[in-house]
Amino acid sequence: MGRVALVTGGSRGIGKAISKKLKADGYIVAATYAGNDDAAANFSETTGIKTYKWNVANYESSKVGIAQVEAELGPIEVVVANAGITRDAPFHKMTPEQWHDVIDTNLTGVFNTIHPIWPGMRERKFGRFIVISSINGQKGQFAQVNYAATKSGDLGIVKSLAQEGARVGITANAVCPGYIGTEMVLAVPEKIRESIIGQIPAGRLGEPEEIARCVAFLASDDSGFINGSTISANGAQFFV
Ligand code: CAA
Repeated sequence: MGRVALVTGGSRGIGKAISKKLKADGYIVAATYAGNDDAAANFSETTGIKTYKWNVANYESSKVGIAQVEAELGPIEVVVANAGITRDAPFHKMTPEQWHDVIDTNLTGVFNTIHPIWPGMRERKFGRFIVISSINGQKGQFAQVNYAATKSGDLGIVKSLAQEGARVGITANAVCPGYIGTEMVLAVPEKIRESIIGQIPAGRLGEPEEIARCVAFLASDDSGFINGSTISANGAQFFV
């Protein structure tokens, strides 16, 4: 039997590609989603991957949902914290609500996802925790004070958990995608998107599958000595 992998926000965008890649690699995958029932039903139908609905921003919902996944599929050994949202606005226009929505989902949501699973990973002495951060957590971004703060925060979580997990067989790593051709990036006004693509030396947006392959590598048994690291996949747009 394959290992059980949980992918939050796993039915759309980059998460969808990750869920499909992990399934193709032999994992038993559980994909979570927050609201889009139609997309989730379609995803399950076409991929055969089970979906679970909960809001990662809510600790109790995450705990209950995770317990259900583990009861149905077995202990979760690979966690991909991918669920994320944007509420872009120049800072002088950003509302406290826009700030809190993004912090609650993208940052607290990561805590809510890994915290209930962590004790089991420690007991079993194996775990792979992968966070989908962002190029914009590395370099900052106009109109994304909220989002960039969460994506930088993700890197702090990973570097800290790596130090705690290393002695008990758990790795924690991040992938920082650049601009990838998903709904999130396609929502950026076309003129701005074109100017962003102009700043990518590769001359194109990335593909979700290119991020999924990074995740699959970090999830594998072979990557045990890679811990607290960040893989940047951004077409040479930014170097740390
Ligand atoms: N760089 C420089 N200037 C930018 C900019 C950017 N990335 N984005 C917007 N601006 C400028 C606009 O050109 C405009 O300038 P002018 O006033 O001189 O014309 C100004 O900022 C916008 O001012 P407005 O008051 O009109 O702003 P608004 O309240 O209408 O908000 C916006 C517009 C929501 C900020 C919109 O411009 C936008 O969506 N910008 C893109 C932000 C962005 O890049 N987000 C990344 C999303 S993808 C992602 O997050 C995935 C990932 O991890 C990579």
